[in-house]
Amino acid sequence: MRFVRRALLAAALSVPYLAAGAAAAQGFPTQPITMIIPFAPGGPTDVVGRMLGEVMSRELGQPVLVQNVGGGGGTIGVNRVVQARNDGHTILYTNIGIATQPTLYRRLPYNPLTDLETIGLVTPTPMVISLRPNFPGTTLADFIAYARQRRDGVNLANAGLGSASQLCGTLLQAALGINFTTVSYTGSGPIFPELMAGRIDVYCDQTTSSLPFVRDNRIRGVAMATASRLPQASEIPTAAEAGLPNFEVSIWHGFYAPRGTPRPVIDRLNAALRVAIQDPAVVARLNDLASPPEPLDRVTPEAHRAFLEAEINRWRPILQAAGQFAD
Ligand code: MLT
Repeated sequence: MRFVRRALLAAALSVPYLAAGAAAAQGFPTQPITMIIPFAPGGPTDVVGRMLGEVMSRELGQPVLVQNVGGGGGTIGVNRVVQARNDGHTILYTNIGIATQPTLYRRLPYNPLTDLETIGLVTPTPMVISLRPNFPGTTLADFIAYARQRRDGVNLANAGLGSASQLCGTLLQAALGINFTTVSYTGSGPIFPELMAGRIDVYCDQTTSSLPFVRDNRIRGVAMATASRLPQASEIPTAAEAGLPNFEVSIWHGFYAPRGTPRPVIDRLNAALRVAIQDPAVVARLNDLASPPEPLDRVTPEAHRAFLEAEINRWRPILQAAGQFAD
């Protein structure tokens, strides 16, 4: 009896909550949506986020305005969303870094699993190792020989501790057993001019930003961190073919909203995202950059959340063994 009473009470209490959620979604969005990209303009997160935002704007009937909040390897931008109003008008688009940050930052001001709502996964993206165009050598083997001689005289760039490029760079250093001089930027956007100018020797980043520069011979793509060659860049050998076995790094992306964003609002955002990643122009561009959209069964809040949790657990021991922490 007591159980029945409790159940009735819970049901009565949840009705206004559900009604409020449904009401919030009905009018949603009532104003422009801010999409926080936690990196500088011009990098892969920015480029793909803007592409998706255009279609989502059409779908949602409100502009989706990108705001770049770089710094702290992406943590400053993520925290901005964690602190934002949870009405769906502020969302986050970011990469795998959100799963490595809880290990790299022992005093991280948020927990991605409890302070954010997942909206859906977006794209898996391969990583490519690139060298400055005036590097004295054309292959990964050339670079490895050079690095063994120069060691910390090699400049490796990353987009900050907790970024995808930092993860790839950390794994590269661990695989070679060499600590390079790492130079951190607020995103890939500012790194490429430095690489092209020869001030950075090596950079491991996503195909979505690197491939156009490799194709234009403005940087030298020497190895893909993938199991097999990509049809979009078949001239670039895999890391294993190039002399670095078992070097495979797979990056992924997703959309988030602050904790407590009503579920109907999350569903509306998810529906817009699903349209965006099926848009023919978006699909063609993503495929050309070797970053095809996720299959639709992964573009759900539940699949995204389960994957995020698995990724946090997957990377923790690997990063702890690599021993690079922010604090
Ligand atoms: C990363 O390394 O996480 C990204 O390349 C940063 C960016 O999107 O600019």
